[in-house]
Amino acid sequence: MNLKSLKIKGGIPLKGEICIQGSKNAVLPILAASLLGDGPVVIENCPVIGDVKDTLRIMKKLGCAVWQEGNVVRVDASAADGFMIEKEEAARIRSSVLFLGALLGKIKKAVLPQPGGCAIGARPIDLHLESLRQLGAVIEEEEDGWEEKQNQSQADPQRKAQSGMLTADGTHMHGARIRLRFPSVGATENSILAAVMLPGETIVEHAAQEPEIDQLCEFLNQRGAKIKREKNAIFIRGGAPLGPVRYRMKADRIVTGTYLLAAAASRGTVMIRNFSQELDALLLLLEKMGGSIEEQDGRLTFTMPHRARSSAFVETAPYPGFPTDLQSPLMAVLAGAEGVSMIKETLFENRFRTAGQLVRMGAQIEIRGSCAKITGCETLVGSVVEAPDLRGGAALAVAALQSEGISTITGMEYVERGYEDIARDLRMLGADVWEEEQK
Ligand code: EPZ
Repeated sequence: MNLKSLKIKGGIPLKGEICIQGSKNAVLPILAASLLGDGPVVIENCPVIGDVKDTLRIMKKLGCAVWQEGNVVRVDASAADGFMIEKEEAARIRSSVLFLGALLGKIKKAVLPQPGGCAIGARPIDLHLESLRQLGAVIEEEEDGWEEKQNQSQADPQRKAQSGMLTADGTHMHGARIRLRFPSVGATENSILAAVMLPGETIVEHAAQEPEIDQLCEFLNQRGAKIKREKNAIFIRGGAPLGPVRYRMKADRIVTGTYLLAAAASRGTVMIRNFSQELDALLLLLEKMGGSIEEQDGRLTFTMPHRARSSAFVETAPYPGFPTDLQSPLMAVLAGAEGVSMIKETLFENRFRTAGQLVRMGAQIEIRGSCAKITGCETLVGSVVEAPDLRGGAALAVAALQSEGISTITGMEYVERGYEDIARDLRMLGADVWEEEQK
């Protein structure tokens, strides 16, 4: 992969309109669900991003027929009989853990590595395993070998080496009443992927309420499943045959939120042509910070006519709370806002890594445990900074828009995992942005 850096000339208010790419965090569980049932699945408005590429690679290795042209992906899993995922494949994408539930649903067995931690946290999967065991799966966890332990200690925090393998047997699985100790998005999705093929009723209580899960359920119901949600409980009448479907991905709400925050940072105006809804927590905050919002026929126009005001105190939380995936982009806006703001990150223990890069741009940020205190500065200074992770990289682009001079952001390969083409999108919104091969 040729490494690129993003160059942005700050000080230009964004002004433009955009159509947002399909949702990364909805398409990943939907691709896993494409393993299930019979008949080809066609997914439209599929984002062309690194995480999708890595997921399709795994699906091909499992025996799926995969065809992709631009934003259309076609999967036929009828001949897929694989049940093992290699360490190096899984290491590229943590959400490969969703194939645990999908493979148990499809062929009642799965062998895959325990996904290691990543830049933002340890990312355990105990809730996934507890739910699947309540459905009757027998899952053996291979202890970390000495080598893994050695690797773990020296591993680059970005790409912690994989720990032991998981070996799962679903021969005796059955519908059950599952209660999650925490509303984990992935554990909820894995429970659905396994239970949808099990005859009988499964109830997932204390389930996550992220909209991406509703898109997974809508996708499965359009194939013949019988799933419904009542607030934070999901009811699955499993065992119905799943047929072919043509499904169109909705707009990515985190990418949408990123560009609304970019408009706030640059004191500009953006119009989202395919607004995805489901961003109430962010919209309320942006209005509190001085922005104005007009919504009509699925289009949303946002304007920040002046320097944003402090957001006072924001705490990330599971949906419908403020999304942790927008915490770093929000921090970038607050770095240039009036006044002092506090952010409390409650989901991922290592998701303040962007603060160090923002300080290089002149931001005044103090981290105390899970809280960040941000004292807004009139202007930031264009600098050379490095993306610490996917959303942190996007946050640095947001900060660069309100900085004096030119910023260079390296490590854009992280951002390409979730954003189709952030340079293209920001240019469409009026930014002066270009890419260079990283020296
Ligand atoms: C999904 O990750 C998203 N990824 C994340 O987006 C997002 O930040 C997260 O949900 C929260 O909204 C995808 O959908 C592919 P969780 P997931 O399980 O499922 C703890 C991005 O930038 N936990 O809801 O891994 C966990 O440590 C990515 O697009 C356990 O303790 O999130 C965390 O503290 C980053 N045990 C909390 O729950 C478990 O078994 C939330 O994790 C599972 C999770």
